[in-house]
Amino acid sequence: MVTKLETATNVINVFIADPLSEDGIFPLRQETNLNLNVIIDTGLTPEQLIAKIEDVDVLLVRSQTKVTREIIQAAKNLKLIGRAGVGVDNIDLNAATEHGIIVVNAPDGNTNSAAEHTIAMMTSLARHIPQAYNALKNGVWDRKTYVGVELKNKTLGVVGFGRIGAEVAYRAKGQRMEVLAYDPFLTEERAKELGVTKATVEEICVAADFITVHTPLLPETRNLFNKEKFAMMKNGVRIINCARGGIINEDDLYDAIVEGKVAGAALDVFLEEPATDHKLLTLPQVIATPHLGASTIEAQESVAVDVSNDIIKFYKTGTVTNP
Ligand code: NAD
Ligand code: MLT
Repeated sequence: MVTKLETATNVINVFIADPLSEDGIFPLRQETNLNLNVIIDTGLTPEQLIAKIEDVDVLLVRSQTKVTREIIQAAKNLKLIGRAGVGVDNIDLNAATEHGIIVVNAPDGNTNSAAEHTIAMMTSLARHIPQAYNALKNGVWDRKTYVGVELKNKTLGVVGFGRIGAEVAYRAKGQRMEVLAYDPFLTEERAKELGVTKATVEEICVAADFITVHTPLLPETRNLFNKEKFAMMKNGVRIINCARGGIINEDDLYDAIVEGKVAGAALDVFLEEPATDHKLLTLPQVIATPHLGASTIEAQESVAVDVSNDIIKFYKTGTVTNP
């Protein structure tokens, strides 16, 4: 649905550039004290977005739209960028700051969904569920190839122990796994409280049977897992990435799987997305989903409600909850 951008000075043009839950943007629709004009126009190329953005006051995105410096420069009226989700790596934060534009995200709304997806991916990886399903759908009843491993008594390394990492650890404990956790801000007290053991990334590499990453993509986390780290790992380690492509070096992961060091990987995210033609997808040991970690009805509604409320708060009070 596209409604027109308004140029009247009292109108606040809220431009939604990625598909968002209609229930989630209900707060914007029902707001009557502000003159909000909600425009939904998704799937635009960068050039098309630049052509439309001049009169936009608020830009609302998920992860598909890359909010580049060029887009920000063209957005003469832009005051706020809302990210319906956690990661703000698709937004040029330096350019936004330089132009005095506030960026808000929705840090809590998809935690549970992302954690559940991670556990689903880990279990699927351990039991070859996608591969066996694929074979059976193609008429092959193969009970030999798809012998898996149990999670019970295995060691899970969680790197990045924020909201999602901690929820993943909590669930993994329910699977009776031992959990090692690394996060620069993880205290002994918090680790004890959650029944996990604090460890370094190197200690995790040496000891873990499964490693899952839950950090943002930052200069310090880009290629955090590379050739050197894979070399330290146990033979037969399994890797899960439901955080961001690039935290695990994709070429090095490919080589580690081909060499037999890594028994398998479960990937929800890729360096370049969409990733339909990726060499990792050619490996039978790799299972994958197309960035579905937060794709539940509940999470999508929740993140959209959170950013919608922050937009309203900004225009009513001049402050935001999740800058
Ligand atoms: P969070 O901010 O609660 O946790 C991130 C943690 O990473 C923090 O505790 C931080 O201290 C830690 N960290 C930062 N640098 C680190 C480093 N060098 N080494 C180890 N840990 C480091 O965020 P969250 O809600 O747990 O989300 C984590 C990431 O997951 C997001 O940034 C986003 O990119 C990704 N995500 C993906 C999906 C999906 O759909 N696949 C959904 C939600 C979030
Ligand atoms: C996020 O960072 O919240 C996730 O990538 C989910 C998404 O918005 O697609």
